[in-house]
Amino acid sequence: MNAPAVLIVEDEPDLRQLYALTLAKVGTAVDQTADLAQARQCLQAQRYSVLIIDMRLPDGSGLELLQELARVGRPERAIVVTAYGSADNAVQALKAGAFDYLTKPVSPARLRQAVVAALQASAAPSPTPALAAPDPSNNHALHQLVGDSEAMQAVRATVQRVARTMAPVLISGESGTGKELIARALHACSHRASGPFVAVNCGAIPPDLLESELFGHKRGAFTGASADRAGLFQAAHGGTLFLDEVADLPLPMQVKLLRALQERAVRPVGAVTEEPVDVRIVSATHKALAQLVQAGQFRHDLYYRLNVIPIHAPALREHPDDLPAIAAAILQRLAQRERLPAPPRLTEAALARLHRHPFPGNVRELENLLERALALHPGPTLDAEALALDATPPAVTGSVPTAATDTPTIDDDAPLSRVELETMLQRNRWNQSRTARELGWTLAKLRYWMQRLGLAA
Ligand SMILES: Nc1ncnc2c1ncn2[C@@H]1O[C@H](COP(=O)(O)OP(=O)(O)OP(=O)(O)O)[C@@H](O)[C@H]1O
Ligand SMILES: [Mg+2]
Repeated sequence: MNAPAVLIVEDEPDLRQLYALTLAKVGTAVDQTADLAQARQCLQAQRYSVLIIDMRLPDGSGLELLQELARVGRPERAIVVTAYGSADNAVQALKAGAFDYLTKPVSPARLRQAVVAALQASAAPSPTPALAAPDPSNNHALHQLVGDSEAMQAVRATVQRVARTMAPVLISGESGTGKELIARALHACSHRASGPFVAVNCGAIPPDLLESELFGHKRGAFTGASADRAGLFQAAHGGTLFLDEVADLPLPMQVKLLRALQERAVRPVGAVTEEPVDVRIVSATHKALAQLVQAGQFRHDLYYRLNVIPIHAPALREHPDDLPAIAAAILQRLAQRERLPAPPRLTEAALARLHRHPFPGNVRELENLLERALALHPGPTLDAEALALDATPPAVTGSVPTAATDTPTIDDDAPLSRVELETMLQRNRWNQSRTARELGWTLAKLRYWMQRLGLAA
């Protein structure tokens, strides 16, 4: 007989029995204990793969045990069981390093699912301890987050530390700082890497379609719903759902999202019952979400749920020492795409010039700038002039070109013609945030129209 894979720490004998029976059906060997003291003894005697820990125990809180285990770097994945309605405990447990949590009453199906996921995660190689420098060389996704500055090392360390848990992560940072890249790295480093990564831009979906986009709908739920359709939650089942620009969610949708997170289930529009979904939530925002909460524009309870693990994507000016390495990585990528024999090199003068540029659009702006420089100045090196950072932008002469002088586009409903949009982008040196601001658009809207008008890379 194999050593027990799971240790149950629960003072209620009936519940212990129920958990044990449920897990026996999965074929998992189980040890049972009723309090912290016994649990400590079991843990001293042997290792487990997974622990199921009740939050409230006769001789203390399950949280204490979690913290003790984290301190000594034990590899067990802990699933914490919390009382109904104690969102606080669930969030605290996840922050303390729990793999997942279950809310009482615990359904056998959820228990099975959580334990199977935890067993999978524990079968994967153990993550590097939080403070050790991560070794990105063996991980492609982490490797893409270039930079040896403290700020970038901290990002990679957190990604490694939390990737293999169910804890929701909120990535905040200015536009172009790599928020999506971080979200993808979280997915790629997780035990869900073979599952889907589904990204949804909450600001780009019209509010009246959001619910059906996220949760799906039943046939006949509304005019035009001619067949059942799965939503993005269902599409992300077994993987990661990336809620980008989460601050743009309208308040009514925030309520529904909160419920979906709490229940781990969604109700398609027009459906009577909820469907269970198994997704890990990663969200991102370039807005100060905490301030929006204070202003009453974002629900506090949802913020609390999404922000269990915060990751700050640093602005480029916060880690200027990484600029050469990031620029080199971008040039390498561009060279690969253009099938150049070798990536072009930036001269000293070019690097010095880049260091003086403020980069409000961060790495994305750097990327656009290098791409332009490379297109206009092909060759083995890029000098400062090629960056065109000193050129005065063309003066704004009244209005942008009119549609009559434009090359015709297929988009009659576009708010701007291709040439008009291109002119504005050029004037802003392809800085999308600035252009969007000038147009009074969201970044998502700008990107949408750049794509449709064939102006996106
Ligand atoms: N540390 C980094 N190293 C290398 N490339 C990076 C880094 N950070 C960002 N990038 C690159 O910069 C570009 C922008 O990154 P990404 O789309 O993840 O940013 P974002 O924060 O989601 O931006 P936005 O707010 O505009 O949506 C991507 O092409 C990404 O690969
Ligand atoms: Mg993004």
